[in-house]
This record gives sequence, C-alpha cells and structure tokens, in this order.
Amino acid sequence: MKNNIILIGFMGSGKTSVGIRLSYYLKQTMLDTDKWIEKRQKMTVSQIFADKGEEAFRAMETDCLRELIGSADHQIISVGGGLPMREENHALLKKLGKVVYLKITPEAVYERLKSDTTRPLLQVENPKERIEILLKERAPVYEACADIVVEVSGKNFEEILKEIAYKVKGCVS
Ligand code: S3P
Repeated sequence: MKNNIILIGFMGSGKTSVGIRLSYYLKQTMLDTDKWIEKRQKMTVSQIFADKGEEAFRAMETDCLRELIGSADHQIISVGGGLPMREENHALLKKLGKVVYLKITPEAVYERLKSDTTRPLLQVENPKERIEILLKERAPVYEACADIVVEVSGKNFEEILKEIAYKVKGCVS
C-alpha cells in the first residue's frame, strides 16, 4: 500500500481547498484527479461530460487511479465526488493510501455550490433536490470506502486539518 492521503466526499465538501492546505501543513504535494484528467484530455470536466459522456469520464477516473498507483506516494490526492461510486475503484483507492471522507450536509453543499456552473451534474432545474438525492445515495458508499471520516460542516480549516492529521496518524475513525 502507498502512503498517500486520499480525500473523498461530495462535490463542495472542500476536498480541493482542504487538500491544498493539508499539503502545506504536511509538506506534501497535492494532486487532484479532475485536474489530472483535464490536463490529459485538454478539456474541462464539463466539456468531457458534454462531448464524451459521463461513462467515458468515469473510465478516465479509473485509468487515473491505476496510473497514480504506479507513480504517486506521500501525496495528498483529492478525487472527484463520483469516483468512489465505481465499485472497482474501491480496491484501487485502498492501494493508494489512507482514504479520508469529508462528510458534509446537503444544506451546506447547496449553500456552497448554488452559483457554481462547473459541476455538470448540478446544472439542473432543482439543484437542491439533486444534491439531496445524490448525497443520500452516495453517503453509505463514501462511509464504506473510508478509513477515516471527518465531519466538515461548521468547522474551520484549521480544525479540519488537525483532525485529519491526528486521525491519519492513528488511523482512528
Ligand atoms: C462529480 C464531481 C466533480 C467532477 C464531476 C463529477 C460527481 O468533482 O468529478 O463534475 O459525480 O460528484 P468534485 O467533487 O471535485 O466537484
């Protein structure tokens, strides 16, 4: 098993913003699977969804994990919110390192993302309802996939970082 810290969780749970700060805090480099895919494809995630479809994007996520297993170690890796929903990705995530689930309420997600236009899955008439439905379906999968769960709603970055660092060391969930 590699020694990375992998951040999973719903869109808007702060995987990227927490990941960047965690990388400074732990002096490790940070990588984001969405950015990795966008660089490879020379397209944004929204363009990939529109031109190639969601399934193609999901296959790219799995390819990304496979490549990272060969190359990434002692890094912070933030993964797209839907990536853990593919069963075959679970074993790949475990091989990559400690999986940390950033748990958030649907209300907090909505507040953070109500003006966002970069998440194709939320460009619908009723994003609030979409968030609730998706989160209900995904939360048990995130829980099952995680070594560590950190509740992020109502906490500042410092509290979140300290909790992750503490729990990763002891790996207590
Ligand atoms: C998705 C989450 C996004 C991105 C894509 C699909 C999802 O990443 O991978 O829009 O299915 O939840 P973030 O979780 O970083 O927003």
